[in-house]
Amino acid sequence: MKAKVLVVDDDGNMRESISDNLEMDGYDVVQAASGAEAMAAVHKDFFDVILMDYNLTDSTGIEVIKRIRQINADSQILMLTAHASLDTAIKAIQESVADFLSKPVDFDKLKHSIVRACERLRLIQENKALVEHLRGANEQLSRLNAMKSKFMSMASHDLSNSLMTLQVSFEMLSQTMRPDEEQIKRMRYISNGIGQIARLIEDLVDWASIERGQFRLEPAPFSPNRMLEEVLVGPQARAQARGVLLSTQFEPNLAPVNADKRRIAQVLNNLLENAIRHTPKGGQVVVLARRIAGDLGKDELELAVRDSGEGIPSEELDKIFRSFYQGKGQQGGRLGLGLSISREIVQAHQGRLWVESPGPGRGATFLFTIPYAAVGAARSQAALK
Ligand SMILES: Nc1ncnc2c1ncn2[C@@H]1O[C@H](COP(=O)(O)OP(=O)(O)OP(=O)(O)O)[C@@H](O)[C@H]1O
Ligand SMILES: [Mg+2]
Repeated sequence: MKAKVLVVDDDGNMRESISDNLEMDGYDVVQAASGAEAMAAVHKDFFDVILMDYNLTDSTGIEVIKRIRQINADSQILMLTAHASLDTAIKAIQESVADFLSKPVDFDKLKHSIVRACERLRLIQENKALVEHLRGANEQLSRLNAMKSKFMSMASHDLSNSLMTLQVSFEMLSQTMRPDEEQIKRMRYISNGIGQIARLIEDLVDWASIERGQFRLEPAPFSPNRMLEEVLVGPQARAQARGVLLSTQFEPNLAPVNADKRRIAQVLNNLLENAIRHTPKGGQVVVLARRIAGDLGKDELELAVRDSGEGIPSEELDKIFRSFYQGKGQQGGRLGLGLSISREIVQAHQGRLWVESPGPGRGATFLFTIPYAAVGAARSQAALK
């Protein structure tokens, strides 16, 4: 279908000759002899191209274009003028006129200009449709994402509650029993299983609350040295059981840091759990803690977990921080959430968590910082937790 063209000119002969010429080429042409008639036509119909004379009896072409633009932004407007001045050209460009044609009209030029205008309009409309489609798809994705987060949040909270009931019932039951050796073995399996499921669910609850932007810190001042000693008890035992040497290098008497102690302990536990698991028997894991000068003169607490284990290929260094990402050859029973949750926790403290590894087989060092002034330095003199 040929395009619809509106010819606006107060000169009747001019209008007729342009219309006849365009109609012969198959265009669907409507004529308007004044600004008012042009507006009436534009209100009634959409025109692909509008040919606008600069001087009309009831107003200027520019005035009419301004009014047209309030109704539609897409019609391609070509301006016809007998006396083109720079001033006219600038005004016309400001009103998004697509092309300028001088009178007397050269019909070849006019037709060429109309073809180009139609092509431009087609591209604009295709672009708009594409943007609209993308917006719709985006909205759909956001809705699905919100539903997924809500579902995960509800499911993990429900699972967490059920597991708690299971755990409590199991403990109460075991206190009333006098189990034989075989039963003790089975009860240990159950208890370990419950512990493992509880850890997975805790990670899911954390991940869901991060996804929903509901992750909250509970900062209070505490001594890093004391916290490290407390945290290391469990990993020490695990490292020993695996034949891995776990040692520490702590700066003594580190100044209290105002942070969420439970969450910082969680980060350390995640890093230590990974380090011990990825270090073969006979290897070493070292935990380091020191105060360093951070950016803008603010001091930071830097904690690091260094292992002599499997190491990480350079192309994996970024990926391992993604939610649910796991390197090759991971055993089941894990979600690949430890590092992504840890990074969220550290970033919520305005700190950084990163990894350095010279490559496969050459160990890895995970480091993170907590700025001393991050969550209200004024309270750091308060009683230590
Ligand atoms: N110390 C390490 N040495 C070598 N690779 C590591 C080390 N720590 C992490 N990785 C790699 O990074 C991946 C992601 O670690 P992350 O802690 O997020 O998940 P995970 O340990 O597999 O599961 P989860 O922590 O949820 O139990 C691991 O699967 C592993 O491939
Ligand atoms: Mg992990």
